[in-house]
Amino acid sequence: MRVLSGIQPTGRPHWGNYFGAIRQYIDLQTDHHGFYFIADLHALTTVRDAATLRHNTLDAALDMLALGLDPQRATLFVQSQIPEVSELSWILMTGTPMGLLERCHAYKEKKGKGLAADAGLFTYPVLMAADILAYDSQLVPVGQDQVQHIEVCRDLAGRFNHTFGETFVLPKAKTLDHAAKVPGTDGQKMSKSYDNTLPLFGNVKAIRKQIMRIVTDSRAMEDPKEPEEDHLFQLYRLFASEADVAEMAALYRRGGFGYGQVKKAVAEASEAYFAEARARRADLEQHLDHVEQVLAAGAAEARSFAAEVLARAQRACGLR
Ligand code: ADP
Ligand code: TRP
Repeated sequence: MRVLSGIQPTGRPHWGNYFGAIRQYIDLQTDHHGFYFIADLHALTTVRDAATLRHNTLDAALDMLALGLDPQRATLFVQSQIPEVSELSWILMTGTPMGLLERCHAYKEKKGKGLAADAGLFTYPVLMAADILAYDSQLVPVGQDQVQHIEVCRDLAGRFNHTFGETFVLPKAKTLDHAAKVPGTDGQKMSKSYDNTLPLFGNVKAIRKQIMRIVTDSRAMEDPKEPEEDHLFQLYRLFASEADVAEMAALYRRGGFGYGQVKKAVAEASEAYFAEARARRADLEQHLDHVEQVLAAGAAEARSFAAEVLARAQRACGLR
């Protein structure tokens, strides 16, 4: 099974990104060959500063490698290094109904807020379809919010095949069954847009401070509490063992403890959980030439696949 996924280099990854998306990419590499890329072309729709985009792109590569992506098992590359994808995107665009894109949520939300959208944001799902189809990808692990885009990809591939004959492989989306919707420090969904994120990497002390500032309700310490309704408990559950989670749940139901205690437990459990990745990242930062080599080798491999698929599509529709 060929697996593919991309992440946008739009800022520091947070716990929601990891538990909602990144973790499953890394898990899948054990049994499948994967193509994983940093979607810098997509990020260009929001990051409008060259140095920032360049910096974020390398950072995202460091993050993926630190979190366990193994270049021996998976192909890691930067999206813009594969020009075949942009070319394929144009071919797909010619068969994309406007209405299909008007229904896509990223564009709809921006328009809904009365903000001006550009053609890049509008056609974003077509580029994403080209990303997927260029490698004959069969399985695309994504977070819940990206499922709609995989449907668009299947739709566009199906239309092309119908018009020009079998050319593209139709992919399937894969989301985590128990898709963690990770709450942020304010209890809403963790998201860069809400300024409530807890980062995977960064200064441990600063992150601990952020954890200690997680908003909690004002019920008295003595009151028993239902753990499932508490976002602090949900955060603890991401990191702790089953036995520790059960013990914490019992503590909630018994009452008589403080939220400070839970926050401390969250801090300790999360630090232990990410300790290995953190050490690996520090080491990679000292070996950036190695990271560059991994990306260059990944791009060369990805390009040879994409060139073949592009040629197939060009032949099918009469460009060759
Ligand atoms: P943000 O909302 O911070 O901008 P992105 O939209 O860049 O995050 O999300 C990247 C990936 O991480 C997506 O696949 C998304 O489903 C996943 N993700 C983001 N936030 C969460 C969350 N709070 N819980 C679970 N998954 C999340
Ligand atoms: N749009 C995805 C996101 O924001 C990133 C992405 C770009 C992607 N191309 C892709 C994901 C292809 C999966 C497959 O998270």
